[in-house]
Amino acid sequence: MKQHRSDPVPADVLARAADYARAYRGGRRPISPTASAAELRGGFCLPLTEDGVAGPRVIDELIAAAEPGLVGNTDPNFYAWVMGGSNLVGVAADWLTATWGQNAAIYQSSPAAAIAEEAVEAWLLDLLDLPRDSSVGFVSDATMAAFVGLAAARGEVLRRAGYDVEVAGLQGAPKVHIFLSDDAHVTNYAALRQLGFGEANFHKLPSDGAGLMRPDDLARAMARVQGPKIVLAQAGHINSSGFEPLGEIAALARFHNAWMHVDGAFGLWARASADRKALTAGSELADSWSVDGHKWLQVPYDSGFAIVRHRDAHRRAMQKSAGYLNVAEEDGRNPSAFTPGLSRRAQAFAAWAVLRSHGRKGIAALVDRHCEAATELAARICRINGLSILNRVALNQIVIGCRDQKNEHQKMTALANRLNAGNRVFVRTAQWKERTVLRLSVISENTDFRHVETLAAMIGEIWPAIDTPCQTKPVLEHDLVQTAAGVVRS
Ligand SMILES: Cc1ncc(COP(=O)(O)O)c(C=O)c1O
Repeated sequence: MKQHRSDPVPADVLARAADYARAYRGGRRPISPTASAAELRGGFCLPLTEDGVAGPRVIDELIAAAEPGLVGNTDPNFYAWVMGGSNLVGVAADWLTATWGQNAAIYQSSPAAAIAEEAVEAWLLDLLDLPRDSSVGFVSDATMAAFVGLAAARGEVLRRAGYDVEVAGLQGAPKVHIFLSDDAHVTNYAALRQLGFGEANFHKLPSDGAGLMRPDDLARAMARVQGPKIVLAQAGHINSSGFEPLGEIAALARFHNAWMHVDGAFGLWARASADRKALTAGSELADSWSVDGHKWLQVPYDSGFAIVRHRDAHRRAMQKSAGYLNVAEEDGRNPSAFTPGLSRRAQAFAAWAVLRSHGRKGIAALVDRHCEAATELAARICRINGLSILNRVALNQIVIGCRDQKNEHQKMTALANRLNAGNRVFVRTAQWKERTVLRLSVISENTDFRHVETLAAMIGEIWPAIDTPCQTKPVLEHDLVQTAAGVVRS
């Protein structure tokens, strides 16, 4: 290749990082952080240097400072939150992304990034079986994906009411009514607030035991008010992983000329599996969708996709042009036409690599494996006296509570503490429906049957000592005993 530059290649820096990455992902590491915040500050919060530090030493220092504070979501024994495991092909593509240093702002700032987005857009719409002429904005996460979808919604429902929010602004606009479950993911409420909506706009519909709104309530609430309307529906509730009746919700949205947005941060990936697609029936009728790449697809963070059926509404909401942002007729897509920001990492490279490496069957197999493992885990936990599963395990989430709810908070906290104490698995409790539950997400890339069998065995071993009539206080650190059950790593 022709050499354009004469910078010395800092091979040491890159080789060090690669060697370390290989060892990190191939070896056994603590799954929980081992250092306190104060200790981590000791490694990171150093005086700013006057003259800098040599690159290889910086990389060594970074590793030493960060490692004790890392959380093992790349480990198959990680169940605490809905987080992907950073697929290694995606990691390698991400390194190249940084190496190339591309800015996916406009076509001319990185034609390769722009065309990779075109490719990933087409693959995603195919895989998720959504309207093929929808547009996809590459954003950092599902929160921003909701922000983009709802920004397009805001503009479009106001436009239908004869009001151009892009020109006239939100102040003075007709009131927009927003219908959603009172237990919709908090980031949807955050995105709506960032878009200038507040409590006065929200029709929070009472959620059922799975956190979902009921179409009857929605029908009544929508019939009660006039004016522009947005419905926000859930495909995969954060705790129960339940799906709202999306077909019925879509019919109501259509009837009221409303925009329907679906939060499918992880749940929409069920559409990639022939066996689970039925769960999402009706989601394809929505106007926009928020989906994550860094959850089930396992693209390294940050990766979210804002998918909008109405390309023009999407563009109008995100529009930005300036004399220096050159556009030529023959250019491919302008990535920033679909995102809130202008300058950005070329996120599509990693998504492209992960999608290409898995293929359609690989992604379906990943989703199916996790769902089947979750079903098996739930079945095993059901057999443990005193524990009960609080959700219908149709996807990857398992919510565990006590059969006898007395002292549930103390017991669930003790169970989580004891599971975590061996630093072999990573779990967390959650507050939900005024209960303290153990919430397990089976979603880290390499988790399979062997891992969930081990976790179930650990719970079965630990639980009887906790579930005694006299257990009323939280278990203290020094009481913790390490379970004898081994942990499988792949
Ligand atoms: C259903 C749902 N919606 C939205 C989000 C927010 O996703 P992100 O953290 O990528 O912004 C999550 C995160 O777990 C989620 O599960």
